[in-house]
Amino acid sequence: MHADNDAASVSTALVARIGAAIAAAGGWLPFSAFMAMALYEPGLGYYASGRLVVGRMPETGSDFVTAPELSPLFGRALARQIDEALEASGGDEVWEFGAGSGALAAEMLPALRGRIRHYSIVELSAPLRERQREATREFGDLVRWLDVLPERMNGVVVGNEVLDAMPVDLLHFDGASWFERGVVRAEGERPFAWSDRPTALRPPHAASFPAGATTETHRQAEGFVATLAEHMERGVALFVDYGFPENEYYHPQRSEGTLMCHREHRSDPDVLADVGIKDITAHVDFTGVALAGQDAGFDVAGYTSQARFLFNCGIGELMERASLRARAEAAMLLNEHEMGELFKVIAFTKGLPEYAPLGFAAGDRRHRL
Ligand SMILES: C[S@@+](CC[C@H](N)C(=O)[O-])C[C@H]1O[C@@H](n2cnc3c(N)ncnc32)[C@H](O)[C@@H]1O
Repeated sequence: MHADNDAASVSTALVARIGAAIAAAGGWLPFSAFMAMALYEPGLGYYASGRLVVGRMPETGSDFVTAPELSPLFGRALARQIDEALEASGGDEVWEFGAGSGALAAEMLPALRGRIRHYSIVELSAPLRERQREATREFGDLVRWLDVLPERMNGVVVGNEVLDAMPVDLLHFDGASWFERGVVRAEGERPFAWSDRPTALRPPHAASFPAGATTETHRQAEGFVATLAEHMERGVALFVDYGFPENEYYHPQRSEGTLMCHREHRSDPDVLADVGIKDITAHVDFTGVALAGQDAGFDVAGYTSQARFLFNCGIGELMERASLRARAEAAMLLNEHEMGELFKVIAFTKGLPEYAPLGFAAGDRRHRL
């Protein structure tokens, strides 16, 4: 009850803050700006207000589960890839973006600690930074938190489910023209409503959409990958997330887009309700991300399903040595109908033209991007 009251008052304060931003912008806010505030507004946004966010069960107060929360074998398999990438690049630093509860760092650090000088976390959320500090306490000064990217990076970047948490532009097609969908203040029970404006923005495959379609573009995630490419001197960047190549993403059958909310381990598409007390995400357009990286100087060194990637990294062998229960948990990372197929892994390299990362040795799907 107490937590619910807290959540309700945070949400009320956030609605007022977003309302003020809408007024200051002349009455209309692009959806990307609304999503940024709903998730990251200091002290009030979903990721910034101290909610538990990730965890295995709703009883713990969490809203959704991620791979490192589901099974420690995720981090142990990924650590094999990172260890190999550090060796190939000669780097001695790992940067994790959007580290959530710190579970992935804690799973990988026992394997990586002898090889690295720093495990640097870049995290927008102040309360999550505190949880990460707790989860990695035993590794002492090896783990640090950065507010800005170093000018030159040599080493390995990793991010699990961070690209899907970046604000997206929302587009709507009325059968003849494209509009950018934004948010306005509303009267009555619901505080916000949609409002469309003409736009020059287009999805990459604009031709295939039926009238009434809604979809997203990912300028922020693409800009993020491009910035990394510019800062990376020599190294590897790995991102794991749910999503598809462009021809599947911008497909007539997906004409309602991919925006989704998560709360208490349930999903719903109503992004304008319960603002700040549920997560908002969009699937990743891996083709867009790959092209953005490539244009900014990265090579795309691999793209495959999470299941393929983890098998290539030896998760099968780790499972053989695990308890039955641990095996069953790890199987959820691999099963096609669970996380094995919807989740993908993409690898970028810079300054390593000959390097073929272990995780893509079999089943590389770059040709599908
Ligand atoms: C869906 S959660 C995933 C958490 C964790 N990686 C996991 O797998 O459990 C998204 C995380 O990304 C963070 N985040 C989003 N955008 C970010 C950015 N531009 N830089 C750093 N962290 C970001 C959020 O604060 C949050 O920790």
